Amino acid sequence: PRTAERESSGELQIGGVPATEIARQFGTPVYVIDEREARERADDVRGALQDAFEKIGSHTHVYYAGKALLTSVVARWMVDAGCRIDVCSGGELAVALAAGVEPGDIGFHGNNKSLSEIDRAVGSGVGTIIIDSIQEIGRVAEAAARHGVRQRVRLRVNSGVHAHTHEFLATAHEDQKFGLSLEDAPDAVQRIRHAESLEFVGLHCHIGSQIFGAGGFAESAARLLSVHKELLRDGPVPELNLGGGFGIAYTSADAPTPISDLADAIAAIVRDECGKLQIPVPDMAFEPGRAIIGTAGITLYEAGTTKPVTVETAEGPHTRLYVSVDGGMSDNARTALYDADYSVRIASRRSASTPALVRIAGKHCESGDIVVSDDYLPSDVKPGDLLAVPATGAYCWSLASNYNYLGRPPIVAVRDGHARVIVRGETEADLMARDAGLDGR
Ligand code: LLP
Repeated sequence: PRTAERESSGELQIGGVPATEIARQFGTPVYVIDEREARERADDVRGALQDAFEKIGSHTHVYYAGKALLTSVVARWMVDAGCRIDVCSGGELAVALAAGVEPGDIGFHGNNKSLSEIDRAVGSGVGTIIIDSIQEIGRVAEAAARHGVRQRVRLRVNSGVHAHTHEFLATAHEDQKFGLSLEDAPDAVQRIRHAESLEFVGLHCHIGSQIFGAGGFAESAARLLSVHKELLRDGPVPELNLGGGFGIAYTSADAPTPISDLADAIAAIVRDECGKLQIPVPDMAFEPGRAIIGTAGITLYEAGTTKPVTVETAEGPHTRLYVSVDGGMSDNARTALYDADYSVRIASRRSASTPALVRIAGKHCESGDIVVSDDYLPSDVKPGDLLAVPATGAYCWSLASNYNYLGRPPIVAVRDGHARVIVRGETEADLMARDAGLDGR
């Protein structure tokens, strides 16, 4: 988020609200979302993709991937910024609908949608359903027939490209659960076209997440377009959906390509490939999540116990200071799950102390419970300091758990000096409420 430091105290301000004020009012840990940044990023990412493809004669829709962070307020911000919404479960669909998202602007994903989820999606009029398996063709066709509608569907395929951050593998084999192989796509599309209650919109492919360059998207688009051309022989294929995956900077070591450059590079490839294949440029769709909401979020914790440990490094022995905070892997599972990098700073004061190598650990009963693996804090960091971990807007609250009976923290939106809760935190009573108790023993 857009942060500033108070001249007098060195206190961090987020969206014009002092971090200490947020902590005092809402407690810690707390997820803070900078509303202006979330809205602006949504607008920038959508705008960059639409502008780049407009130039090559393609109309583009941008779906915000709700799995990154979805609440009714966040859904409204996205819609206000001109985004559609991508959901991947009945629960996410319910939130989008509750937020008043136009059902036609919702895309519904999932490799194992239940019959009732499909029924609900078709019945509520979602714009597109992304078919993920052969079985699902019949299931969606049946639901659409029952509701008396012609359901627009995409077909999810694997382009054989797998990308993560800097590298992509162009020969990634298809040993994963999502989608059909490109080889099987023509037959599946034929089945879709034979179903009267279905309308085929185009292919869909998502190659990975936290991707920094255009190479993987370009390779994937080229492979998809040659199948897209094959499909054009037997009927219209109006769109191509390249999924999400644009990366963000978690620490100063990360340098993702700016979204407008990425968009231009992908558009150039699509234009060139279509030229080579002599087919019209299709309309496009994208599904970014992290690139929109990731950097708008910051988590505040209170520092608790500390413990210096001597570690051997290439340059000799080093002291690493473990600083434990009042949350951990239950509010940010990404470090434990993906070995993700984050940074940390003191949010409550300025310090002139020399930097010390720190590791920010949580309070869970597990040694892998780490929030920030390696960073530096002033060596006088002490219990009671307020710590801030930036770039926690995506896949932190949405992946949160109640491990060790910790309540999920609230999400507080800040803007122009005002803070408001958009999802309240869980209390112990919330956690106990679902326990059936001993009465029926
Ligand atoms: N579309 C589809 C079909 C997806 O599966 C995903 C992410 C997205 C769009 C959005 O991707 P994004 O633009 O946010 O990278 N929990 C992991 C990330 C899992 C991504 C799953 N799919 C993490 O925290 O890094």
